Amino acid sequence: MTVKEYVKTRKEEIKNLVLTMERKPSIAIVQVNEDAGSNAYVKGKLKDADELGIHADLIKLPLETTQEELLKVIDELNNDDVHDGFIVQMPLPKQINEDTIKLAVSPKKDVDGFHPLSSLAPCTPKGIMNYLHHEGIQILGKNAVVLGRSNIVGKPMAKLLLKESANVTVLHSKTTFEDMSRYIANADIIVVAIGKQHFLDNRFTYKPTAAVIDVGISRDETGLHGDALPDLPVRLQTPVPGGVGLLTRLALYENLLEIASKK
Ligand code: GUN
Repeated sequence: MTVKEYVKTRKEEIKNLVLTMERKPSIAIVQVNEDAGSNAYVKGKLKDADELGIHADLIKLPLETTQEELLKVIDELNNDDVHDGFIVQMPLPKQINEDTIKLAVSPKKDVDGFHPLSSLAPCTPKGIMNYLHHEGIQILGKNAVVLGRSNIVGKPMAKLLLKESANVTVLHSKTTFEDMSRYIANADIIVVAIGKQHFLDNRFTYKPTAAVIDVGISRDETGLHGDALPDLPVRLQTPVPGGVGLLTRLALYENLLEIASKK
């Protein structure tokens, strides 16, 4: 099933589940930027909430908001009885430390899964794992290669794959091309999150049975592009756009429902 078809099916299930709940789940989204990417992402999240029957409040703060002011808003959200969970959209303006903010969100309400004590997984890796399972991709004992070592994607992705007993290799900007080619040629699962347009291309060879999950998204005058050239000779490749972005948005609401259904 394509990502689009899978997300549509799963949304239908979540919507029906929400209908059976006594209290409508509720989320708050805090945005302190005017970044085009963030605007599009927040708009998508609000649209999803609407479709799923979930209540969503957008709290938009001015660009010059101080860290103290944002911490105060977070404190209120941590302690209110209205929202089951909330997120603070990244990136944040430079006067605010992102790590301080991630740690200020109560793990009980951290639907992004960014807090080290959160029981929930970060949305992008979680959404990817759910999709791999749905597509029947075997993980146990398989060679998984993660390109990129960011805190939001690469590292938690490697952790989730390892938890399910894949042989995980994390490659990054200091990996030589020769080593990279060797790992990629042997990979059953490749997750690429480096932000370099069409980096995975025909310079590399792939197992025809491999699954390529493309987390990259870069924009130029011709549109949005992933980290992998479309139509690589593999079993499964997620497109950009219409791939991992949708899985991330879906996982946010899976996380919210996990919190709301425990109440
Ligand atoms: N910015 C880019 N991706 C994300 C995400 O998953 N959550 C938040 N809060 N900000 C982001």
